[in-house]
Parts: sequence; structure tokens; C-alpha cells
Amino acid sequence: MENHVSRWFNVQTVPESHTFSIEDRPGKEQIPLCRTIPIIDLANSERMEIVQEIIKASQEYGFFQVTNHGVPEDVINGAVKVLEELFTMPVDEISEEANSNGWVYMGSTSFATKGAHLWRDNLKHPCHPLEQSMQNWPQKPTRYRDVVGTYIVEIRRLSLIILELISQGLGLEKGYLGGISQVQFLTASNYPPCPDPSLTLGLLKHFDHSLITILFQGNVEGLQVLKDGKWIGVEVVPNAFVVNIGTQVEIISNGKLRSAQHRVVTNKEEARTTIATFINPCSDCIIEPAKVTVNDANPPLYPSLSFKEFVNVSKPFGPYTDVIQNGCIDE
Ligand code: OGA
Ligand code: NI
Repeated sequence: MENHVSRWFNVQTVPESHTFSIEDRPGKEQIPLCRTIPIIDLANSERMEIVQEIIKASQEYGFFQVTNHGVPEDVINGAVKVLEELFTMPVDEISEEANSNGWVYMGSTSFATKGAHLWRDNLKHPCHPLEQSMQNWPQKPTRYRDVVGTYIVEIRRLSLIILELISQGLGLEKGYLGGISQVQFLTASNYPPCPDPSLTLGLLKHFDHSLITILFQGNVEGLQVLKDGKWIGVEVVPNAFVVNIGTQVEIISNGKLRSAQHRVVTNKEEARTTIATFINPCSDCIIEPAKVTVNDANPPLYPSLSFKEFVNVSKPFGPYTDVIQNGCIDE
């Protein structure tokens, strides 16, 4: 507990170091919670209905939620609990291990973006190939590898189901998206309560550069999606996963499906712990508009690049890009 008291976020007012500029901060505007981002029941026996719902949601919002996804509740809760425990450990202890192992831990003081620190602690590590990358995962809490490994196996299974539904909806050959995909890395975030959420951000506005991202957001709201130039909040649906279309699927669909910008805001009352898993292409995969999406009326809108080249050009994780990429090169 003593430890807890000394943590960076235990403050009465937001320090200057965490105050974003007027353009970036959320301000006092009330953002509506969106009850229109589709919630898709994967147990629906009409497969074509699921396919159509996913495609429509991906065109309109770039986001949807899935229920009845088959990932056992205790596997999800187990992963959330062990991460919550990890986030109460002394920052120095985690960081020391992280630096020597090539995985990334960003206590809020270690990463300034746009002149201010994000209001979160964040852990990122590779997950592919699973057995091998696991050797470099946190050793404490001692059950971490076991519990998070089980979670990743489930997310892999779910990702293949969703990618197949998207492939079908786009008219791609069977296994097209699943075949080039990997669960490349996990990023877990802990967003502590904040004395003034109007000044801070848990995560700046960004696109995900994955094929798709599968997020467990727990029971606390905070994720917002930009739709038609306006922010909308993503409602909490118990035990659901939030899925979003990443830049790579946008490219493969030649812009038919969209990758939407999103951000995370903080709140005064409750800490929020989330687990995002990024389903990426393998590094050497060439990503380009699929043949079926291109014709005379629809010329390719994106160049063809290997995922590795794409990452080198866009550096989606700033100085951490190399660590993340090198940890997940597939052989
Ligand atoms: C991300 C992300 C959302 C959240 O990690 O890219 O968008 O709610 N996370 O933590
Ligand atoms: Ni994101």
C-alpha cells in the first residue's frame, strides 16, 4: 500500500507535465455514449447475417463489439487480474526487468508525446511465436506467463473467426486474411482515476496499424471513436470484445472498410484496465488492395508495401517501434 501512495498519479491536481494543449485535450464538452456501434452476436446461426453486420459496421464506424465469442469468462478475468496486479508493482522494478528483456513498460513519466505525458501506465510485449516470445514476458507475478499465454491462445482463435468473416464479406478467398495474420503483440493499459479529465488523455488520437485489434475494455468507459468529425464514446458491454479495423485491412479492402481514429479519455472515479491485442500481418507479407476489390471503376488507392516496410515508414510506436518489431519477426 505504501507503494501505492507514492505512485505518480496520486495527486490532487493535474501536474503541468500531464496537461495537454487546448487542441489535444478533451475539454469539458460532454461526449455522448454511443449505443449505435453494432454489437454482433457471434453465436447467430445465420452466418451471412453476421458477415453483413460486420461489413456494415466496418464501413460506418470501423468498430464493432462481439458477444458470444467463446472466450471463457475466467480466462478473461484471469488476464485482467494479473495485469492489475502487475500495475501495482513498483515502476522501477517492472522497468528494470522490461529493459533487460526487450519488452516495453512505459510508466507515465517515461514517455512524453506532444509535450505531455499520457495518463496511463502501459505494458507492451511481443506474442509471436508464442512459445518463444513468452520466455521474455514478465516473471512477476509468477502466474503471468501461464495466464496471459492462455488468453493469447483464445484471442488467436477468435481473431481467425473474425478475419474469416471479414474475408468472406469482402469476397476474398477462404483463409486470405487468417493466412497472413499473427497475434503479434499485446498492449495492456492502466488508466488511473484523474483529478481533472478535461486536461488529460489516456491515449492520444491514433489509428491502429494492425489488420484488426481485439480490445477487452472491462467495465469502465473511456474509449472514444471519431465518426464524421465527432467523438463518440464506446459503451461497456459486459464480457464483450471491442474489435476495430486496422490500417492493413483498410488497405486490403481498398478503402471499403475503414480504420477509424480513436482516443482514450480519463475519469475521476475509477481506474480502467484494458488489454489490446494487435493482429498484424507477418513482417514479409505484402499488403496491397486485394484483386477482387480493384477494377476499372475502383483503381488501387494504396501502394503495395511489405508490412515491415510499412512499419519502417510510419514508425507507429515512435522510438519503441524497433523493439516491438524485432521481438516479433517470424521465421
Ligand atoms: C490501443 C487502444 C484503447 C483502450 O492500445 O491502441 O486504442 O481503451 N486502446 O485502451
Ligand atoms: Ni488503438
